[in-house]
Amino acid sequence: MRVFITGASGFIGRAVVTELLKAGHQVVGLARSEKAASVISWLGAGIQRGDLDDLDSIRVGVKNADAVIHLANKHDWANPAESNRAERAAVQTISDTLAGTDRPFLLASGLAGFNLDRPVTEHDPNPAVGPNSPRGGAENLALEYAERGVHVVVVRFAPTVHGAEDHGFVSLIAQNSRRHGAVRYPGDGANRWAAVHRFDAAQLVRLGLENAQPGTILHAVAEESVPIRTIAEVLAERLDLPTQSTPAEQLVAELGFVGYALSGDWAATSHITRDLLNWQPTGPTLLEDIAAGHYDQP
Ligand SMILES: NC(=O)c1ccc[n+]([C@@H]2O[C@H](COP(=O)([O-])OP(=O)(O)OC[C@H]3O[C@@H](n4cnc5c(N)ncnc54)[C@H](OP(=O)(O)O)[C@@H]3O)[C@@H](O)[C@H]2O)c1
Repeated sequence: MRVFITGASGFIGRAVVTELLKAGHQVVGLARSEKAASVISWLGAGIQRGDLDDLDSIRVGVKNADAVIHLANKHDWANPAESNRAERAAVQTISDTLAGTDRPFLLASGLAGFNLDRPVTEHDPNPAVGPNSPRGGAENLALEYAERGVHVVVVRFAPTVHGAEDHGFVSLIAQNSRRHGAVRYPGDGANRWAAVHRFDAAQLVRLGLENAQPGTILHAVAEESVPIRTIAEVLAERLDLPTQSTPAEQLVAELGFVGYALSGDWAATSHITRDLLNWQPTGPTLLEDIAAGHYDQP
């Protein structure tokens, strides 16, 4: 397939590009800068110049492709409303452009905010509904298009997709810990995160693109539930810092979205995904990746 990918130059996107090329697909990545274009070219993919704020550039990429993977996100932690707006607009534009075709559209989603007292499954509806909700309610918006015949597949990534070059939550927590002089965790640190290695996540994206039926929700989750306190302890040992229990409200006040994430209880299962696509994650665990030193550098 000729696959158009937004976010191709990102942490997950780069792994997805490599995974797709290895499997014999053609790939074109959206690039908003020379730097992003050179990263995508270096991986061996073609370029569509454009930006999330230039919806025409996205329309062109979608029209010229057999399938679309949407991974770009502004991740503007200081202005989440703008990230959410852009996310919703991109998903709406891609879905409208694909209406009336049977071309697959796979989009990234997350596992925050479900607030269940058990791990989230693929059958649990995402509580983010409407433009003012997290990610602009893009998952539910896309699933509405699935009901109207667009071949939508949702991939909910674990809150930490980890590995070398990760600059997501664990990396931000490591940076904050160095500044603060301790690795902080909320309360007793019993809250949990699901986790997945970047290469396993990329393989799942490819399998979902090739095989998932319209309307499928997939969980990119290799480890169901890693306690935050354990993550803090392994990180502290690696960074040669003490750990420190801190009230969750203080972490949120000081660290914003990162503090909210650190305090989240975001466990999830992936039995349904594994059975559906015969996906068997094999990558290192989160704790192995931390212990290997991938979060050592500022
Ligand atoms: N990584 C995780 O742990 C994790 C967990 C849950 C969900 N997710 C979701 O998975 C998706 C991919 O995450 P990631 O970790 O790969 O993110 P990332 O490394 O931050 O990459 C973001 C990508 O979006 C692009 N982008 C940002 N703003 C843009 C704009 N205005 N116009 C066009 N492109 C723009 C970036 O391009 P540049 O290279 O030009 O900056 C980059 O390619 C995101 O939706 C993310 O929220 C990730």
